Amino acid sequence: MELPMSFNEEELWGRTLLLYNAALLEIGTKLEILNNEFKQAHQYNPIEHITSRIKSSQSIAKKMRHNGRELTVENIVKYINDIAGIRIICSFTSDIYRIADLIAKQSDITVLKVKDYIVNPKPNGYTSYHMIVSVPIFLSNEVIDTKVEIQIRTIAMDFWASLEHKIYYKFEGHAPDHITRELKECADLVSFLDRKMVAINEEVQNYRAPEQEEGREVYLTNLIKERMKDAYGTVIDEKSAIEEVKESEYPLSYKEESTQKINEETHSISGEEENWRPVEEDGMLKVITEQVIKEKERTPGFLSRFSFRKA
Ligand code: GTP
Ligand code: MG
Repeated sequence: MELPMSFNEEELWGRTLLLYNAALLEIGTKLEILNNEFKQAHQYNPIEHITSRIKSSQSIAKKMRHNGRELTVENIVKYINDIAGIRIICSFTSDIYRIADLIAKQSDITVLKVKDYIVNPKPNGYTSYHMIVSVPIFLSNEVIDTKVEIQIRTIAMDFWASLEHKIYYKFEGHAPDHITRELKECADLVSFLDRKMVAINEEVQNYRAPEQEEGREVYLTNLIKERMKDAYGTVIDEKSAIEEVKESEYPLSYKEESTQKINEETHSISGEEENWRPVEEDGMLKVITEQVIKEKERTPGFLSRFSFRKA
């Protein structure tokens, strides 16, 4: 890249560009790691894709001229925040804030500035989340904090921004009124679409098919029966092991009642004194009760209790 600057700054400019490229690599790697970790934990990618760029020399020169500053490397580094730019495209608005948080939390990243154009869209309708951060670049003899502009937006916001950008350049900032108006209408649609997509996605994430519910109940029943058996050596009558109880007597009476029951029945079934363990001693009932209560909260309608009969 060549800028119309004095000859003795050329080397410095080359070194400066090396820093900005390194900063893009650093941030890019951090994002890839976060995305992979998230994918492993939640089976989905919060990041759709990432693009990055180094600002062109023409744009740098233009911006410096526009700001009325002398074109020196020192001024460029000081006054231009978006020489290194990275754009993160997400599917959902909720992912934008998640990613922004994760970036801000990294101990070697300093957030210098945030502009939330999602909460406060620009008058033309532009929405995105912008961060200016700095990241340390480790060179052989020194460490240099280097600025990067991070733009985070949804696919829909990106679609809008790219059309707006084209229109802006085509008309040099003076688009006909009706185009400006329609573009603003599209921005409202983008915001509606993004909100709707988040809502649908949340519903899908929380959805469980009736068969899954049933399978889950069978699974839990077996799990709890197994635990009971391990703990007390009691034979549980398979058929009548689980009965529905009314919402009202659950869960308060549940524990007392089953403790008593288990005490009585374990004692009488096992017969052999050496196999018998008082229920309250080993805390197993507590574990099971807690598990049932937890499952009840997670699965509305999951109400079951255990009755202990002689096999
Ligand atoms: P510059 O616009 O870069 O001079 O800095 P700024 O201080 O105005 O920063 P801001 O965070 O507002 O914008 C930074 C970048 O966001 C811009 O360079 C664009 O890439 C993008 N951006 C901001 N506003 C718009 C907009 O109205 N339309 C489009 N398409 N992009 C925008
Ligand atoms: Mg810019």
